[in-house]
Amino acid sequence: MDKLVIRGGNPLLGTIRISGAKNAALPAMAAALLTDETVILENIPQVRDIETERRLLAAMGAEVELGYGRAQHRTTICAANLTKNPEASYELVKTMRASSLVLGPLVARAGFARVSMPGGCAIGARPIDLHLKGLEKLGAQIIQEHGYIEARAKKLKGARYSFDRITVTGTEDVMMAAVLAEGETVLENCAREPEVVDLATLLVKMGAKIEGAGTSTIKIKGVSKLKGARHRIIPDRIEAATFLLAGALTGGDLMLQGCEPSHLTSLMNKLEEVGVKVKVSKGCVRVMGDAAPLKAADIATEEYPGFPTDVQAQYMALMTQAEGTSIITENIFENRFMHAQELCRMGANIRIEGRRAIVRGKTPLSGAAVQASDLRASASLVLAALVANDETIIDRVYHIDRGYERIEEKLRGVGAQVKRIGNILPERISD
Ligand code: EPZ
Repeated sequence: MDKLVIRGGNPLLGTIRISGAKNAALPAMAAALLTDETVILENIPQVRDIETERRLLAAMGAEVELGYGRAQHRTTICAANLTKNPEASYELVKTMRASSLVLGPLVARAGFARVSMPGGCAIGARPIDLHLKGLEKLGAQIIQEHGYIEARAKKLKGARYSFDRITVTGTEDVMMAAVLAEGETVLENCAREPEVVDLATLLVKMGAKIEGAGTSTIKIKGVSKLKGARHRIIPDRIEAATFLLAGALTGGDLMLQGCEPSHLTSLMNKLEEVGVKVKVSKGCVRVMGDAAPLKAADIATEEYPGFPTDVQAQYMALMTQAEGTSIITENIFENRFMHAQELCRMGANIRIEGRRAIVRGKTPLSGAAVQASDLRASASLVLAALVANDETIIDRVYHIDRGYERIEEKLRGVGAQVKRIGNILPERISD
């Protein structure tokens, strides 16, 4: 099992290129199931979850090429010959919950889907009941047994459906089902994340009729068939946020290229409040952490455009180095503070009270052997290690490989002392 060894103390100086968004690429790859023509997706990140999705689609009979050539990170998918009863097996789904994104497209295109229930997850129960209620509203029959969901529908019918709570992949799943349903569908209380908008942009390129993506009400007029398309995935706003915080934390001067500043507004406002200078130009964000000492500032995670839950753990690492007490409230998931105890082992002063974490800074951090528990918690430990005295060894780095492309190479490129020990990069996909 790979480990990252990081020696703290270096300010990050230089330029990092941001990769394509994992959480936009995953639904976009699932959308290719909606047509028998070829879908080409560019700016695909070289991360473990994308490889998992490739295996998932291939197991259903789709032809999936995935290449990370110098010029392009690209996947070409053709789902002309799906297997008779397409299935997302437990072996694959347990490694990536986002596999449930194939439900909507399969029911809409093939009239049948068999997907393993995702099961629990480190950060919370994360049921998919709202996905299923939406598909039932569109006329699918859903059976749940032996840990699997089976969904069937001769032909989905448009309907009005309001999500009981805002769900990103729930919105994406039901929207993909609705594009081939008969008649009009109105979805209310939808997620407004940029990844939802990016998926809608792809679907419209494929011939879908969608209005309102990015707002809480999405209207879809069903069409009988979708065609192939070519689409460039949006930049990863969570990767960009992570590196912005790394630049702030290390008192560095970091330029992020190939990002979308308008997706980072809530974090950039918060960084200004904390005393970190941020400059925006076209496709770039520059963070200058060498200004005044960091000031404590509270956050409460919310759905987009609020402060993202996927940046909460990384922000907590920053607050350990800020003067004063900050209160971090996690409103989206019920168990997303597992990084806190690892940060405390490095010297942080953090107390958890239910959905709130109280961070008292500034506390010097010292290198330690720590363990990653989930994707963003691992990122938080990397950030802490960048400012800790001595060496930190982070175990179970496969968590971080799920969502960050070659993180140690990107960090080394701007002066961090970081190396990977254990096997070489997971499933290094040939160029
Ligand atoms: C997406 O997960 C992201 N994953 C997550 O990113 C992100 O943390 C999350 O949205 C919130 O922004 C992908 O896009 C692949 P939700 P998703 O459905 O869609 C509850 C990362 O680090 N809920 O918006 O699974 C749920 O339990 C990952 O890249 C139901 O109760 O999240 C949670 O409390 C982690 N029933 C809340 O809604 C449902 O049917 C929001 O979850 C669906 C969700």
